[in-house]
Amino acid sequence: MTQPTWDAVDAYFSDTLVGHDPVLEAAAAAADAAGLPPIAVAPNQGKLLHLLALTVGARRILEVGTLGGYSAIWLARALPADGTLITLEIDPKHAEVARGNLARAGLDKVAEVRLGSALDSLAVIGAEGGEPFDLVFIDADKVNNPAYFAWALELTRPGSLIVVDNVVRGGAVADAASTDAAVVATRRLHDVIAAEPRVTATSVQTVGSKGYDGFTLARVQN
Ligand code: SAH
Ligand code: DHB
Ligand code: MG
Repeated sequence: MTQPTWDAVDAYFSDTLVGHDPVLEAAAAAADAAGLPPIAVAPNQGKLLHLLALTVGARRILEVGTLGGYSAIWLARALPADGTLITLEIDPKHAEVARGNLARAGLDKVAEVRLGSALDSLAVIGAEGGEPFDLVFIDADKVNNPAYFAWALELTRPGSLIVVDNVVRGGAVADAASTDAAVVATRRLHDVIAAEPRVTATSVQTVGSKGYDGFTLARVQN
């Protein structure tokens, strides 16, 4: 099975279970029109994030890596009216597109895009001392994933869920000899998680319109 099959199956699942969604389609179109890279989560993956947020009863969500706000819309739609999503983005153009998309989705009251390097923004959020986040979605530069994960642990509570995108990257994660910085960091992330008693975690491989990749899911333990 190769990419055309994965594309067809993703289209089938998205057609049947996700459906036509003008707000999300407009957000994706606006990101394309602005020249953003086509690396947002797929529709059925976005819905998975939405389901995970609903399942943990998320009231506060943190996202690292906004792009055009596509995954942020899926996540924020799982929040109650008084919920909060903070999403972190380093690129001013991406942040601007995302703010427009979130406003058109009617989510600008619950969703805030913070511009800047995610590590800087995370330090600010930590210093603000707000309520813990119930779900963290890590999907920015992969080399910083160990640091983003450490912050996610700092900013969550027992029962929170931490999701990391793009942990497989075509299978390269299994190559212990890899010198690719993203692969090295992803392997370090797995070592950190394996040695971390505060979480229980697994990683799963996925195929689909985004190619061959996968997610890590880690639950903060009681
Ligand atoms: N979560 C989005 C996709 C994010 S793509 C979705 O599925 O819709 C990754 C994003 O992370 C890009 O917009 C990129 O500009 C941003 N990014 C990369 N390095 C970053 C950093 N150091 N701090 C914050 N954002 C960063
Ligand atoms: C890339 C980044 C992502 O977050 C993703 O889901 C797919 C690809 C990338 O940088 O290539
Ligand atoms: Mg990603």
